[in-house]
Amino acid sequence: MFNSYCLIFNCLITFITLQNVEGSVSFPKDFIFGVATSAYQIEGAWNESEKSESNWDYKTHFYPENVNDHSNGDIACDSYHQIDEDLKIIRELGVQSYRFSIAWTRILPDGFSNRVNEDGIRYYNKLIDGLLRYNITPSVTIYHWDHPQSLQEMGGWTNTLMIDLFADYARIAFEYFGDRVKHWITFNEPDLFCSDIKRGTVFSDGFGRYLCAYIMLKAHAKTYHIYKNEYYIKQKGKIGITYSSTWHEPKTNSTEDIAAAKRALEFELGLFANAIFSKDGDFPKIVKERVAFMSARQNFSKSRLPELTSEEIKTIHGTADFFGINHYTSDLVSDPSWESFEVSYDVDVHVDRGVDPSWPGSESGWLRDVPWGLHHLLVYIKDTYNNPIVYITENGFSQFELQDDGRVNYFKGYLESVANAIAEGCNVLGYYAWSLMDNFEWNAGYTHHFGLYHVNFSDPNRARTPRRSAFWYKDFITDQKS
Ligand code: BGC
Repeated sequence: MFNSYCLIFNCLITFITLQNVEGSVSFPKDFIFGVATSAYQIEGAWNESEKSESNWDYKTHFYPENVNDHSNGDIACDSYHQIDEDLKIIRELGVQSYRFSIAWTRILPDGFSNRVNEDGIRYYNKLIDGLLRYNITPSVTIYHWDHPQSLQEMGGWTNTLMIDLFADYARIAFEYFGDRVKHWITFNEPDLFCSDIKRGTVFSDGFGRYLCAYIMLKAHAKTYHIYKNEYYIKQKGKIGITYSSTWHEPKTNSTEDIAAAKRALEFELGLFANAIFSKDGDFPKIVKERVAFMSARQNFSKSRLPELTSEEIKTIHGTADFFGINHYTSDLVSDPSWESFEVSYDVDVHVDRGVDPSWPGSESGWLRDVPWGLHHLLVYIKDTYNNPIVYITENGFSQFELQDDGRVNYFKGYLESVANAIAEGCNVLGYYAWSLMDNFEWNAGYTHHFGLYHVNFSDPNRARTPRRSAFWYKDFITDQKS
């Protein structure tokens, strides 16, 4: 469990705290245990009741070769027709909260807010009311990667028009659901959707990702201010944003490797979080300097990273009630020996990444079980962003078997890490397991299984069956709450 490279001091602290909680992990009584999903990954009914085509419908229909098994989310878990079944298994788990996302194309088929699709509204109303009936708090993500294909054709997240269109869409969500939804997440993992601008082009690699970060931050801030100025007084909810970050551990304790690991964190997390959560706002200094330096070497007239004006810095700064973090795994980062001046994000980041082969693997090549990484990441968030309120909005492991001991070990280890971090003063208020059930795992299609519940995708009813981890999580929560 302990990697031989990590700094001796950190390891010692981790070792001592883990020893203390061994067998008796304990969370504060009001800690929220939840479970999460997202619209495109589970809903299906891709063109039903006026829902329009999303960027993911388009991608999977026209470029199936990009998905491992050439599948799509046309039916997925059929959640659009299976609300009762979903509610039943959410209740069965004994969670206090359910995190799901809204499909923009289901409630605003044209992308614009002038025409609302009442059937879409009805679906989410039924889900929200069903959760509340059983005292389960809905946590709603407004954007989890799917938007109207019509807007994608206008450049998607590289078009500044998205700022107003997103804010209009969010306003509809507040308007229709905000009387009952008190926990909003504007965006899920901008680092991931901004890396997907248009793969393999100079535009995507060296520009699009930064432009997307800039546009996303402005859309987020605009939405936050709309909520606070127009809705908060009546609705009294909280609104935040969810990032993703791997924990990047320096491969050795050399100054260069420590700097490389910090660079990796600033480009993955800081690029999206610094402007909102750091003391002074703006993009991180390390990112600004590095992209400016590379851009100058590449003969650009100015940095490829957009510059935030002081007005923009002010408007974006502090626009979140909580810091949502999705965390799955860790890597070992070192300073590379290669030099390149190619225009690319990876060259800008300029690190080598590896893993310790002793870290247990999952079904997904990128995901290994490294529980102490979450502990380090939570302490890093506390120290870097002034100890914000944190929700771990996703954490999970892929394994197919019903007897999923790998996933159970993973959850045990990661939950211990969360408890350790809380004991050290990290302000973590909730944890959501990913995922309620197997679902459409983006480019992996249905080949990677993250569900506490197995889903039979060849059964027209998409029968859900609990894995061992579902029973384990339920018992764990019951224990914590008794
Ligand atoms: C995403 C989920 C995805 C999970 C596992 C996260 O990056 O938010 O949608 O299923 O990772 O890959």
